[in-house]
Amino acid sequence: MNTFGDNFRVTTWGESHGKALGAVIDGCPANLPILEEDIQNELNRRRPGYSIFSTPRKEEDMLEILSGIFEGKTTGTPISGLVFNKGQKSKDYSKIKDTPRPGHADLNYFLKYGNYDYRGGGRSSGRTTIGNVIGGAVAKKLIEFTHNIKIIGYSTKIGKINGDFDYYKNPEFFESDSNIEKLFEKTENNPLRCPSKNSDEMKDYVLDAMDKKDSVGGIIEIIIKGIPQGVGNPVFNKLEGKLGSAFIGINAVKGFEIGRGFESSDLYGSEMNDEYYIDENSINEKTNNAGGIIGGISTGSPVVLRVSIKPTPSISKIQDSVNLISNENEKIEIGGRHDPIIVPRVIPVLESMAAITVADLMISGGYINPCRL
Ligand SMILES: Cc1cc2nc3c(=O)[nH]c(=O)nc-3n(C[C@H](O)[C@H](O)[C@H](O)COP(=O)(O)O)c2cc1C
Repeated sequence: MNTFGDNFRVTTWGESHGKALGAVIDGCPANLPILEEDIQNELNRRRPGYSIFSTPRKEEDMLEILSGIFEGKTTGTPISGLVFNKGQKSKDYSKIKDTPRPGHADLNYFLKYGNYDYRGGGRSSGRTTIGNVIGGAVAKKLIEFTHNIKIIGYSTKIGKINGDFDYYKNPEFFESDSNIEKLFEKTENNPLRCPSKNSDEMKDYVLDAMDKKDSVGGIIEIIIKGIPQGVGNPVFNKLEGKLGSAFIGINAVKGFEIGRGFESSDLYGSEMNDEYYIDENSINEKTNNAGGIIGGISTGSPVVLRVSIKPTPSISKIQDSVNLISNENEKIEIGGRHDPIIVPRVIPVLESMAAITVADLMISGGYINPCRL
């Protein structure tokens, strides 16, 4: 399965060292104003080399749109876009061809399919998320153009270092769109995409791990602001169920929380419940501990999501593995070019998946005309 969504459907394809990677987007209504550079800007945020903490693999990830956009607008036909791989160095992987990398999908793919593309992990590579970002850029544009929905992601923890900025430390901050723009700028200018004051301490933590030929994980918060009340459905098509499936499906994501998440199990009901009040005839919540979703349906408050990202599996520290040909134990020392930390690069990917999920549910729920804008 390489397709996500029911009504706004994104199919991704391609491998780390194949010729190209891309996406086909089906179900985007006609007349959405969008330029190639809107999608390119999102790809640039995911691109290797964006900071010292990303893989040194050299890729420009230049987008080519093949269909579905004409004179700056979607036509309602399938949108397809691709990026050619240019910086593959498949020789880097020949040394570990028969020695699966612990923590990566090499062995599991081999056992399931009887073969695997050892060059950069093939389809299990983080590079396949180029397709998610192409689809997500269109979805972001669609939900922002029709409902002014904004999605922002940033890291709140790197390795063992907790940051001092997250949604619950200052929920009022997220009420203003201009604050969100400022936050975006701050986040994008930080190599770990962390707006916390102690991000330098986090940088040192990652640099230290890199010195030790090791890697680091972290926690990301994603906020969806402006989503109207009523998106999502009871029982199997819950908004949080769809978002959970979208996020957990991304490589290296190991945990998912909504609102107060795991912390909610420590609270009393009286601390967790978001109490109501009436203000100028509208019913409001005093707090947003639920994270903008109750009963599978958006409440109209910002949707607050958190994911944990594991440390990059490919590390150059020597590890135990096996040789699949000789059937003997073997040490593995991984060369090649890898992200010492995946966290900053996965943020645009998670924002993309949030946008695709919301666009899909808003089309099926009648918030967006599926045919034309
Ligand atoms: C944007 C992104 C970049 C990644 N970069 C690397 C990398 O450089 N080296 C690596 O070993 N894994 C990298 N990964 C993680 C692997 O793709 C992932 O751990 C592997 O496929 C196993 O899947 P799992 O961790 O979800 O179980 C990256 C993942 C993403 C989403």
